[in-house]
Amino acid sequence: MEDPNSSISKSREKLYEDNWLKLQDWIIEKMKNCDGALIPMSREEIQRREEPELDYQIFLESASRTMIRFKKPERLIRMIVRVIDEQVKVTHTAMLLKSGHKNSFILIDSQGEKGVKIPIGFIRLNFDNPLIRLFDERHNYKISETGAIEYKEMLDLLHRSDKVKGDPDFRDLIDLTIKQMELLKATICVPIYYKKELLGVFVLGKKLSNIKFSRQEIGFFTTLANDVAMALANAQLIQDLQEKIFEVHKLYEREHKIFIHTAISLAAAIDARDPYTHGHTERVTQYALAIGEELEDIPEAQAYRNFKETLHISALLHDVGKIGVPDSILNKNGPLTKPEYEKVKEHSITGAAILYPIRELGDIAREVRAHHERHDGGGYPDSVKGEEIPFIARVIAVADTFDAITSDRPYRQKKMAEVAVQIIKDNSGTQFDPLIVSAFLLAYRKGKFSNVA
Ligand SMILES: [Fe+2]
Repeated sequence: MEDPNSSISKSREKLYEDNWLKLQDWIIEKMKNCDGALIPMSREEIQRREEPELDYQIFLESASRTMIRFKKPERLIRMIVRVIDEQVKVTHTAMLLKSGHKNSFILIDSQGEKGVKIPIGFIRLNFDNPLIRLFDERHNYKISETGAIEYKEMLDLLHRSDKVKGDPDFRDLIDLTIKQMELLKATICVPIYYKKELLGVFVLGKKLSNIKFSRQEIGFFTTLANDVAMALANAQLIQDLQEKIFEVHKLYEREHKIFIHTAISLAAAIDARDPYTHGHTERVTQYALAIGEELEDIPEAQAYRNFKETLHISALLHDVGKIGVPDSILNKNGPLTKPEYEKVKEHSITGAAILYPIRELGDIAREVRAHHERHDGGGYPDSVKGEEIPFIARVIAVADTFDAITSDRPYRQKKMAEVAVQIIKDNSGTQFDPLIVSAFLLAYRKGKFSNVA
């Protein structure tokens, strides 16, 4: 038989349980209706809270490492904005960056999945803008220790704080800054300083969770801003340097072009003095470059800082010393006497003397001086031989001879190209360096001398 006391005890328990549940519901209801008090979490909220929090320290370390790789400030900012947006989960993230001309701040990048995406390029704030003025004049440190400003705290400051009461200018600035933050839909703005200069401003919307940014998170953004400032300054330095290098390069190219054209004009002027060698310099240059193409990869060619260019200019100016040879000798219609020939031979020394002081030409003077030397040491002016003769001078010697044989002279008619080739082959190892002769034959067989009659 059932104990009547036991039955009473059970019904009491049931009553207590029901009352307890009722009390719980009542408390929850009260909590919901109490403005600003605790709000019970929804199931999604509980799940979200259970998700692992972002490890800001690790994130900062990895961001700092990644920043070093970026050489263009815009790319760096795009990366940071994207990472903040993904990791911190805010309605939108944007970055105002001081423009190259340094008189305004431009919205470089904006990102946001669910929130308002600020159109890039439409926002340009100058130094009169209250938000920029607040940061530029360091008023932000009157508001917060970190220098970051929060929309809600700005409102509190405007309406409740004594700080602004006795300072109408500061009050106006706060008021206008709040309006600017509203336009940018900013919950937090974090300044980016490098030394004493304001480089940019991080603009952050609300957190998707609607939870206020924690002190830790604001600390994270200010640290990130310091890292970004350093990276931006480095990127700017690299960009400035690259622009300078580009300018110098352009200037060099321009001057170089002028120089080449001057060399061509000079060569043409020398040619014009001698009607029998008309076009000689242009052809020798063409032949020398054709032979040079076959030699580009060998160590002797690679020993030059710029083999092709040195060869080009040397060939153009190889006979520049003829400027010192009298017209009566240059235009003589017949074989030269010994003294006349000695005078003509001086042109290699004169040419080197003309070119030596021009520093841009480097060692071109020595190439010009040696273009009549022979492989066996029987040439002039120094009678050096073999590898003592500068490499380019050896190339010019072959090209010069090929043109001399295949062109008319006052005292003899031009010969066929095949004859010139044979003469050069016959003189390989005596007058000419065999290596250069091989390169010449290769170029000739490839048809690079085909324009010769
Ligand atoms: Fe010459």
